[in-house]
Amino acid sequence: MADKRRFELFAKLVERRLPGAKRLFDVAGGMGKLNAALTAHGLDVLTFDRRWKRAEVNYAERLFTLEEPCTCDAIVGMHPDGATRIIVEYAAKHGRPFAIVPCCSDNGMSYKPWMRHLAELGSSLSLDVIEDALPMEGRARVLIGTPR
Ligand SMILES: C[S@@+](CC[C@H](N)C(=O)[O-])C[C@H]1O[C@@H](n2cnc3c(N)ncnc32)[C@H](O)[C@@H]1O
Repeated sequence: MADKRRFELFAKLVERRLPGAKRLFDVAGGMGKLNAALTAHGLDVLTFDRRWKRAEVNYAERLFTLEEPCTCDAIVGMHPDGATRIIVEYAAKHGRPFAIVPCCSDNGMSYKPWMRHLAELGSSLSLDVIEDALPMEGRARVLIGTPR
């Protein structure tokens, strides 16, 4: 069971690690709980996902793709599953930073190789990628990418 504190913990990390980013895309945001936590920190957030049952937050009810027009300062994703790789590629395409808390891979890869793969993907796309962690149990590792 994923830790329910993860949204607030990640919101605090985003604020600390991406200080200049005021407009965020929250990709694969599910019910909008990360959006609500980030909004409470004074950020302007748009969530992309397809849940009809959700919090009252700014929500684009569609899958996020590389074709999405870029109107954000940074992209974030909590357990974004099939959208994880897209977030890294999108950040590189638009020269934006990203912060993600990866969980499941999009191709059956297990957690550690998946984390390594995502970091290498970012580096190969001219992003400096560092790692941090949320102070909780479970899949708490965070990747933060910044355009070189
Ligand atoms: C494990 S859930 C995580 C939801 C939420 N971030 C959380 O932590 O509770 C993964 C979510 O990714 C969404 N998703 C997968 N691919 C996506 C894409 N390309 N664009 C938007 N959402 C996507 C799914 O619809 C699902 O809600």
